[in-house]
Amino acid sequence: MRLFFFSMLFCAAATVSAQSWAWDDGTTPFVVSPDAVVERMLYLAQPKAGDRLVDLGSGDGRIVIEAAKRFGATGLGVDIDPRLVELSRANARRAGVEKLTRFEIQDLFETDLRGVNVVTMYLLPEVNLQLVPRLIGQLKPGARIVSHDYDLGPWPFDEMIELALAEKMVGPLGRSRVFLWVVPADARGKWISDMPEFGGQWQFSVAQKYQVLDVDARAGASNMVVRGARLRGEEIRLAITGLVAGKGYNTLFAGRVTDGRIEGNVRISDGDSYRTIPWKATRQP
Ligand SMILES: C[S@@+](CC[C@H](N)C(=O)[O-])C[C@H]1O[C@@H](n2cnc3c(N)ncnc32)[C@H](O)[C@@H]1O
Repeated sequence: MRLFFFSMLFCAAATVSAQSWAWDDGTTPFVVSPDAVVERMLYLAQPKAGDRLVDLGSGDGRIVIEAAKRFGATGLGVDIDPRLVELSRANARRAGVEKLTRFEIQDLFETDLRGVNVVTMYLLPEVNLQLVPRLIGQLKPGARIVSHDYDLGPWPFDEMIELALAEKMVGPLGRSRVFLWVVPADARGKWISDMPEFGGQWQFSVAQKYQVLDVDARAGASNMVVRGARLRGEEIRLAITGLVAGKGYNTLFAGRVTDGRIEGNVRISDGDSYRTIPWKATRQP
């Protein structure tokens, strides 16, 4: 895919100027994310003090620097262009966050993402697609990925913000989109819960593609209706309706999926009142 960028952007702090979008060889050029976009990216990614953030193709370092300045996140920026890495280091020093930030000359396809909590990127769509197996394979459940303008193809996003930027002359002109993905836990399989006080044995059969779940549920001998299923990192939520011991209930199961176990609670409503009981489920081998 080839996109054309007609104007040169001017970056005040930079001795390196932005390039056309994109090179004929498919390499993502240096174009900065405007400040308003960086703000939305960090709003969606929610870095916390102590979190590790990586910007893949870090340009002048602005995302890593802002995350350190505003949230105390430890950041690594990798870029293929040594001049941009030098510029980022200088910008980090100027911003007083050189202890929290690191900038390296590195091919982003080589960057080790294990243990990273937040990945940010502003890359070409085909580069994003190539990164999907690495992102899914290396990041832990709950890690956040935020991308400016381009999505991750078959992996549906969890959230998206669109903002109007009249001055934007690259990619989708005059607007930016910011996408969020939360790396999902593995919830697939057959799960059993014993709830003697509510329906006896529950069975949940879960099929999963990325974070999208398809769930069947039974309470004892009753087939239940799963009205909603959501997986966000390790957090699972199931809204289930049906008959338990001959009486109709609405339930909301909420728990965390870790190491073949789910632990949380279930809120049970009979239409007049509700109660909350613990929910524990184990995955069947
Ligand atoms: C569109 S800019 C984004 C800069 C910054 N992340 C931002 O949002 O403001 C993309 C950056 O990726 C870098 N880049 C392109 N291909 C790369 C590769 N294979 N490895 C590392 N960096 C790369 C470019 O030098 C450029 O600085």
